[in-house]
Amino acid sequence: MKDICEKIFFEQFGYKNQITSFAPGRVNLIGEHTDYNGGFVLPMAITKGIFAAAKKRDDKKIRLYSEDFKEDLVIESDLENIEKTGKWADYPLAVVKTFSSFGFKIDCGFDIAYIGNLPGGAGLSSSAALETVTIEILKNLFSLYITKETAAIMGQFAENRFVGVNCGIMDQFASSVCIKNHAVMLNCTTLAHKNVNLPDTVDVLIINSMVKRKLKGSAFNDRRKECEAALNFFKEKEGASFLCDVSIATFNKYKDFLLGNVMKRAKHVISENNRVIESAKALSCGDVAYFGELMNKSHISLRDDYEVSVEQLDFITEKAREIKEVYGSRMTGAGFGGCTVTLTKKGEAGRIAEYIKDIYYKRFGIKAESYIESAGDGAFTF
Ligand code: GLA
Repeated sequence: MKDICEKIFFEQFGYKNQITSFAPGRVNLIGEHTDYNGGFVLPMAITKGIFAAAKKRDDKKIRLYSEDFKEDLVIESDLENIEKTGKWADYPLAVVKTFSSFGFKIDCGFDIAYIGNLPGGAGLSSSAALETVTIEILKNLFSLYITKETAAIMGQFAENRFVGVNCGIMDQFASSVCIKNHAVMLNCTTLAHKNVNLPDTVDVLIINSMVKRKLKGSAFNDRRKECEAALNFFKEKEGASFLCDVSIATFNKYKDFLLGNVMKRAKHVISENNRVIESAKALSCGDVAYFGELMNKSHISLRDDYEVSVEQLDFITEKAREIKEVYGSRMTGAGFGGCTVTLTKKGEAGRIAEYIKDIYYKRFGIKAESYIESAGDGAFTF
C-alpha cells in the first residue's frame, strides 16, 4: 500500500513525494471508557491503518488529498490562516494547529496524500490514525524532535480542542506507541505503560457490525458529563482526583446516594478499571480463560451500566460466547455500533467469523465484516 500511496501523491500533485509514513488503527482488548476517568486501558495497534506521502512546498499553502474521500478532491488551506472545512481534512488541519500550540515550528507549506485500509466509523480509531500519521509525517518532514508519547498527547489535543470530541488518550497512544506482538497496559493518568505479550495460542477476531456510530460525539460527551458528576461526588466525600481512584468498596458504601444514571456510569468505570488490572495479570501468566471471562463481564457492564452497546453488538458477542473455542467476546471502542473483539483458540477464528456473519445476516439482514488481526507497530516512517 505504501507504493500505491506514493503513486497517488504523484498523480495528484505532479511530482514525487519526499517521505511516506504509516499509523495504525487500534482494537481495545479491555478497559472501555476508563481513559478519560484516569484509569487503565489495554489496547493493541492493528496492522490496518493509514498511509501518508508528503513533500514540502516553497510557499505557505497546505494541500491535502485522500483517496478514501476522493469526492472531496484536493483540499487547500493556508498555513497562516487555517479554517474548518467540515470535511475529513479537519483532522490533519487540527494537527497542524496543534504543532503551533505546542511550540513546534512548521515554516512552509506542504502537500500530503493519504490512503487507508481501516473502516471508518467502526470503532477502530480511523480518526486517531489520521491524526497520528499526520503528526508522524510532519515531524519527519520538518525534522522536529517529538517523542511517541508527546505525539499521542498532541493527537488527543487536536481532537479535543479543534475537532470537538472530548476523547481520552487511548486511541492516539495506541496508534503512536504500541509495538508488534504486544498490547499496551496504559495508566492514563501518568502515561506509564507496560507492553503485554499476547499468548500465541489465541487469535484476535474483530467483527464489524457495520452499524455506524452516528451519535458518537454527543452521546460520548454526555457520558463524560455523567462521569464528572460522579467524580464531583467522590471528590467531596473522599478526595478522589479521578473516578478510577475510587475503590469498589467505597463505591458500594455511597452508591445509594448517587442518581440512577450517574450511579450506573460510575459502577461501570470503577469495575472496568479493576478488570483491566486483573486482565494484565491474567495475560502475563497466560491465563486466557480468565482474561476471556473478564472480557465477557466488560461487555455486560457496557451494555447494562454504561449503556453504549446496541442490539447488533449484543447479538454478536452472545453468539460468540456460546462457542466452545471462544475465550471471551465484547464490544470494543466507544460503542453505539462499530466492532466487537473476540478472543478465540488459535486457528479457529476464520470458521467462527463465517458462522457468526451468517447468523448475523439472517437476523439483521446486514453483511458484517471480519478481520483476524495481529498486534502491529505504532506509527513509523519508511
Ligand atoms: C473512544 C475514545 C477513547 C475511549 C474510547 C472508549 O475510542 O476516543 O478515548 O474513551 O472511546 O473506551
